[in-house]
Amino acid sequence: MRVLVAGATGVIGRRATDLLLARGHQVTGLSRSDQHAATLRARGADAMVVDVYDAEALADAVKAAAPDVVMHQLTDLSGGSSEANARMRRIGTRNLTDAALTVGVRRIVAQSVAWAYQAGPNPADEGTPLDLHASAPRSTTVGGVVALESSVRDAPEWVVLRYGLLYGPDTWYTPGGLVAEQARRRELMANADVSSFVQVDDAAEAAVAALDWPTGVANICDDEPATGHEWAPLFARWVGAPEPPKDLDTPRPGWARGADNRRARHELGWEPRYRSWRDGFTAAPRARF
Ligand SMILES: NC(=O)c1ccc[n+]([C@@H]2O[C@H](COP(=O)([O-])OP(=O)(O)OC[C@H]3O[C@@H](n4cnc5c(N)ncnc54)[C@H](OP(=O)(O)O)[C@@H]3O)[C@@H](O)[C@H]2O)c1
Repeated sequence: MRVLVAGATGVIGRRATDLLLARGHQVTGLSRSDQHAATLRARGADAMVVDVYDAEALADAVKAAAPDVVMHQLTDLSGGSSEANARMRRIGTRNLTDAALTVGVRRIVAQSVAWAYQAGPNPADEGTPLDLHASAPRSTTVGGVVALESSVRDAPEWVVLRYGLLYGPDTWYTPGGLVAEQARRRELMANADVSSFVQVDDAAEAAVAALDWPTGVANICDDEPATGHEWAPLFARWVGAPEPPKDLDTPRPGWARGADNRRARHELGWEPRYRSWRDGFTAAPRARF
């Protein structure tokens, strides 16, 4: 298959690109940077330098690549701004979807998140509504997610992958990563919030598997949603940080509920190598780039 990967140099995109190439697909990766494009070519992909906010240039690039499938792994997180990332979800996704539909692409596989669900007592499954009435600043993230998913649904076939918190090499949750540094400064609290994690290589495997999945939404998370009281001390140990301070007073915000992965695991046949962050936190797969 010819696959265009937008965000081919991001943490999931670069792994998905390697997997696609290894499985015989023809990949065109998009990047804003000549240097990143050169790296993609060295790995065996075609590459085009384009900014997804330049709708005309993006349309030309998608037309030239003539893909069967568009894989959307775009985020704008390196500056740490949720507004920038929401803009990417809104405008970047709209531009990419329009470019794909104009040239008759049938299928879009897109990266979303599994923590935009409305409040509830248990890990949320895919039938749970998104948190449309969230207040600021959470409304920025949820609004971006809603816009991304709604654009992608315009494709004849689409798969939205709602990922848990990524951990592992090159992510924020790894020794030396952003959250590890917060833990070293004792800014990471062990609290009642429930999170779902997914190891970054497992996340990329799901993106590639989704080329063949039926249209729909899938939570891509491991089997063990956990409170901060459970995961934060183990995370801190893994990254060489002190024991996190405990917050025993603040109740869990209703939306911090984790996500239920049964659809991906049982209906779609996705098998994560790391079924729990307990195993994945201590494994040491290699970094990419
Ligand atoms: N579910 C999760 O928990 C989750 C998901 C994703 C990321 N993250 C975290 O966020 C951190 C940063 O993510 P990241 O390393 O993937 O980087 P990023 O800076 O968010 O960029 C991701 C991808 O989007 C591309 N991109 C961004 N803006 C673009 C634009 N205007 N036009 C074209 N392409 C554009 C980048 O390409 P170029 O820079 O090559 O142009 C890159 O391939 C990670 O360490 C990870 O921990 C978490």
